[in-house]
Amino acid sequence: MKRTADRTGRSDALVLFGVTGDLAHKMIFPALYEMTKRGALDVPVVGVASSKWTTADLRRHATESIRAAGKVDDREAHRHLLSRLRYVEGDYNDSDTFSALKTALGAARRPAHYLAIPPSLFGTVMEGLGAAGLTEDARVIVEKPFGRDLASAQKLNRIAQSVFPEESIFRIDHYLGKEAIMNILYFRFANSFLEPIWNRNCIASVQITLAEDFGVGSRGGFYDSAGCLRDVVQNHLFQIVALLAMEPPGYQGYGAVHAEKAKVFQAMRPLRAEDVVRGQYSGYRREPGVARRSDVETFCALRLFVDSWRWGGVPWYIRSGKCLAEKAAEVLVQLKAPPQKLFDDAAPADGRSNYLRFRLSPSSAVALAARVKRAGKEFTGDQRELYLSEEQTGAEPPYARLLSDALDGDGALFTREDAVEAAWAAVDPILASPPPVHPYRRGSWGPRAADALIAPDGAWHNPTPEPRDR
Ligand code: BG6
Repeated sequence: MKRTADRTGRSDALVLFGVTGDLAHKMIFPALYEMTKRGALDVPVVGVASSKWTTADLRRHATESIRAAGKVDDREAHRHLLSRLRYVEGDYNDSDTFSALKTALGAARRPAHYLAIPPSLFGTVMEGLGAAGLTEDARVIVEKPFGRDLASAQKLNRIAQSVFPEESIFRIDHYLGKEAIMNILYFRFANSFLEPIWNRNCIASVQITLAEDFGVGSRGGFYDSAGCLRDVVQNHLFQIVALLAMEPPGYQGYGAVHAEKAKVFQAMRPLRAEDVVRGQYSGYRREPGVARRSDVETFCALRLFVDSWRWGGVPWYIRSGKCLAEKAAEVLVQLKAPPQKLFDDAAPADGRSNYLRFRLSPSSAVALAARVKRAGKEFTGDQRELYLSEEQTGAEPPYARLLSDALDGDGALFTREDAVEAAWAAVDPILASPPPVHPYRRGSWGPRAADALIAPDGAWHNPTPEPRDR
């Protein structure tokens, strides 16, 4: 795939709004360190937040965050990164904050502004940057969730585009920077054997599970304003659907990939209440930051239809939840059973005929399950997997990959306005009138109602640990 860097050239500074926050601590500093080690960060980094910190405080904080994510194993890179950091303290509603930022940016003329802040502040900061003249030749990197429904996403897009041209807006979905997810696109279109079967004629259903075995932890305040559907389904899991369901791109370039993915979102049938099961793990309402009578879902299962020529009638079952039995993400593409029952065991005990399985995390693999005869007089056999595990070493962590792409102006792995809005349009009816939330036990696979949802097409495939998981 051709990369899509624009003509403005590489950004000459990185500004981090929300530098004292959780995301910066957990993801961004470790990513900046990784980028420095790889020689991919050679610009000043200016952190902005409202805490009364100094640049020395920021450097200490950065070191703690790098240590929390692993260890400082390259002293030179660590020293380089710290020397690039500057801190600007200020209120995002105050124009003085943006004047101070301008001063801190010095000679930099093409900064990339990363908004690692609550979504309610995106508009304020973008408008503040515009008013201070900090947007010319600049880029903006926006964290998810991009909006909280279709109307708010449209409003946000309008604000962003009043200040930045679309090619300078980088909407992050860190799933797009994961190797296993990029491999879906590669595996589908670098091979020829899949295309003849990759449609409603041979595929019975598709399942996608993103299971987490932990709760909301310290993120209760954020999570309780979002819920599972907004947090991971409308973005991460729908991106996986788009990569699996899209038509082949018309040419070798990410513009074509974006266009084909957007068509999948546009073809998604808006969800109805009977296609959705919402669940909440026991004890969620006692988590810090969570409302005592919260109705927010920590689990969500849906039956989705992509009403395109290729996928007409094929159900897509999508599921995610916190406090489930495993931490794993998998896709199971279930093929139709043979048309005639020639062997007694043709319907295997687990009810599954051949399938293709993409393991996305913790390890990354692709497996194709086929039946083979067991030795003996009887014509009976077993379903075995042809298993292709992917080499993990040297993979760039998603945030490091995405941030360095954004600094280069390469929008390939970011989401486009039309796709984001179409994805919201598919879930909007449920956000407006959600079905009731079902309690479920921690460590289970979610509420029973989710099993009933999939029953007409079989049962959920629950991912299990694999030898290569670390
Ligand atoms: C984030 C969500 O976007 O994705 C989290 O806010 C979720 O709630 C996380 O845990 C999952 O990402 P990953 O990379 O750990 O699978």
